[in-house]
Amino acid sequence: MINPVFCAIDTSDPVKALALATQLKGKVGGLKVGLEYMMANGPQGYAQFAALGLPLFVDVKLHDIPNTVAGAVTSLLPLQADFITIHTGGGAEMMRAAAQAAAKATGKRPKLLGVTVLTSMDASDLKAVGQDADTAAQVERLALLAKESGLDGIVCSPAEVVRLRALCGPDFILMVPGIRPIWAAANDQKRIMTPREAVMAGASYLVIGRPITGAADPAEAAQRITDEIFASCCDDKKSSCGCCC
Ligand code: C5P
Repeated sequence: MINPVFCAIDTSDPVKALALATQLKGKVGGLKVGLEYMMANGPQGYAQFAALGLPLFVDVKLHDIPNTVAGAVTSLLPLQADFITIHTGGGAEMMRAAAQAAAKATGKRPKLLGVTVLTSMDASDLKAVGQDADTAAQVERLALLAKESGLDGIVCSPAEVVRLRALCGPDFILMVPGIRPIWAAANDQKRIMTPREAVMAGASYLVIGRPITGAADPAEAAQRITDEIFASCCDDKKSSCGCCC
């Protein structure tokens, strides 16, 4: 049984990050540690998580010319990350170069996940940067391009999961933020799904931050989320989630 929950450790403080990660060992499927942490602590700042043995999602959203992104992926290989994000908008050649760099890993090969359209951008923001296509169509176009270019999956919103699962097939990884248990505050997330709903819709992994990190007892909150995912799937006797049935 794979725990699909990656907890978003959104801090630049390595002491706080390690304290939180230590509490979550055995309660989550992995840790997502992103750009603010990387900029403050560098790749060497990730070494402290290795002893916990938790899968690591290095969410740094690389975007540059192919040669530079390939070099960045190579520089990240010593982290032994399970996932690294890159922007699909960098184009097919950039994604292929990144995939080739990842394939040269001598240890664990990091899976590359594409970022399509940032959810912070609405249709008018996209138009202002010259993207007139319908947002959903643009997400689908970039997801397929990512797949064709050798990426392992994409990050997508809960609202996109059903369509992208059908479009990209059963093996393409869908890493899904915007997840809220019914007992948690939505915060600034607008189009949310519960963990169970997202898994049943076809999400491969869930990114969950504040419902865990902001809880009085993060380990208890993480356990509750995991229990809800697995109990609900089995109770419904549905096998489409692939996580427990
Ligand atoms: O605290 P919360 O569960 O909202 O955190 C979600 C995490 O997923 C944050 O690290 C956030 O940056 C990230 N994320 C997101 N929406 C996206 C892409 C990433 O919330 N579309």
